[in-house]
Amino acid sequence: MNVPNHIAIILDGNGRWAKAKGMPRSYGHVKGCANLETICDDMKELGVKYLTVYAFSTENWKRSREEVEGLMKLFRSYLKKCLKIAERNQMRVKVIGDISAFDEDIQRKVIELEEFSKDFTELHFQIALNYGARDEIVRGMRRLARDAVDGKVKPEEIDEAMIGSYLDTAGIPDPDLMIRTSGELRLSNYLLWQMAYTEFYFTDVAWPDFNKAELIKAIEKYNERDRRYGGTKEE
Ligand code: FPP
Repeated sequence: MNVPNHIAIILDGNGRWAKAKGMPRSYGHVKGCANLETICDDMKELGVKYLTVYAFSTENWKRSREEVEGLMKLFRSYLKKCLKIAERNQMRVKVIGDISAFDEDIQRKVIELEEFSKDFTELHFQIALNYGARDEIVRGMRRLARDAVDGKVKPEEIDEAMIGSYLDTAGIPDPDLMIRTSGELRLSNYLLWQMAYTEFYFTDVAWPDFNKAELIKAIEKYNERDRRYGGTKEE
């Protein structure tokens, strides 16, 4: 089995999963968070080198105050626990997205975790928090424009690699496989620039139920694909 170098996941369906069990949405998020721990271990075991998960979008602030507060509480405890998970898996953690919108203690925890794990190389784990691909592109292009105005960049020097280097994912290879759980068939503003050639896998399984067997199923489907990047199909 050819294991993708980089897997990106849209963690969807926590709320519906909990509702189906007669439980509050927050219960689904707690279970979804626990599953994230397990899946990091599975990725490491399978030899996946890069994992990027969509945990909180720029649109998720529109959820009820109660739900947003519950998620913030979960992020706080997870970011703390993640120090251990990072050490266990020798995993480098990086948060992508605009973290300036979070409370200062969360921002500090993110910086602490990134600093703590910066020399680990077994698994590179990106967590998208207050992330939206269009927002990422706007922020990146503002910095590029500033560098152009300051004379550090000439317009004719701008190419795809340079644009990539101004994004939150600078230095991280593009995803090979994108998995979205829980039945929706959309990208929801996730890694739009980076996923130009990514293979997509959609499953009805809700995120809290997405386990190693489901992950292997997704990788097997990926293996059946013919990744041509616009080249000719083999006869
Ligand atoms: C989508 O399910 C999930 C979220 C918006 C939050 C994802 C959060 C976690 C998995 C837990 C914590 C993560 C970290 C990094 C600590 P949904 O609420 O959209 O489900 P629904 O579509 O059924 O309503």
